[in-house]
Amino acid sequence: MCADRVLTGITTSGTPHLGNYVGAIRPAIQSSRESQNESFFFLADLHALIKCQDPEQVAKSTLEIAATWLALGLDPDKVVFYRQSDIPEISELCWILNCVAAKGLMNRAHAYKAAVESNQQEGQDSDFGITMGLYGYPVLMAADILMFRANKVPVGKDQIQHIEMARDIAQRFNHHYGETFVLPEAVVDGNVALLKGLDGRKMSKSYNNAIPLFCPSKRLQKLINKIKTNLLEPGEPKDPNDSTVFEIWQAFANAEQVNQMRQEFAAGIAWGESKKKLHALIDAELGDARERYEELIHNPNQVQDLLLAGAEKARQYSMPFIKQIREAVGIRPIS
Ligand code: TRP
Repeated sequence: MCADRVLTGITTSGTPHLGNYVGAIRPAIQSSRESQNESFFFLADLHALIKCQDPEQVAKSTLEIAATWLALGLDPDKVVFYRQSDIPEISELCWILNCVAAKGLMNRAHAYKAAVESNQQEGQDSDFGITMGLYGYPVLMAADILMFRANKVPVGKDQIQHIEMARDIAQRFNHHYGETFVLPEAVVDGNVALLKGLDGRKMSKSYNNAIPLFCPSKRLQKLINKIKTNLLEPGEPKDPNDSTVFEIWQAFANAEQVNQMRQEFAAGIAWGESKKKLHALIDAELGDARERYEELIHNPNQVQDLLLAGAEKARQYSMPFIKQIREAVGIRPIS
């Protein structure tokens, strides 16, 4: 069997939360340990500018996210770990891809459509507050992926459409300019791809319903206590399929623990009790990494050096490939 090239990015606009961990970071790190695979992980700081125009926030988030991946056991000797903005070839490729990507394809992107719909609901002009960055978001993402000829891209469910767009753009390019890009596939961990937040909607910084990945243990319990539940009393059977507590439990538990909790729900476990157990489960998985995280956050130079070394590795791929791409589109030495 052929080894896969796995690539994934995380946008540096916020503090990592449990949803990021379960949906993207954990599966990516797991896959990087399966030694056959070559892994590319990066901080999507250019993507961050689309969502976040607070410079302090972007800078802080970049450190936090880098420290998160390292604390969780990412081995920078084994994977290529870098910052998107340290690879100028990605931006150049983004432009070249913009020139083959169909505008009509971008019109269908969920994030863009959601922004238009929310404008319409509020009686605003459809384009209000929508930048070209948001509109072209999937093209930059295609550049991230195609630049490194990744064939597998672990993402949350909400990103599947973007990977399909990257495939579409790659196919158009290959069709027009000749075989150049590898067609990527999304990899979604079927059980736990989309985690719900405190209010039962998708966990997301923008809904303000997220549980930070590395908050102190006490605060973690406080936040878990805020997870919305129904009004069923202790002793009344509860429906696990309609419970955010159970859903998050599933994302951290093994098969046996899932079964146990299912039985406890049937037997009417009190919400408070189920939340205590959830806290213990999450703490057991993340407690050690939390300590390593704190150490890295206080040693930013160490993080910076690792990222620069990673960029150097990444550019071993991107520099020769951009040459080939330029050649393909006709940007060639004159003589
Ligand atoms: N858009 C992704 C997210 O918000 C982050 C991302 C940027 C990404 N470029 C990527 C993920 C390339 C996978 C591959 O989660």
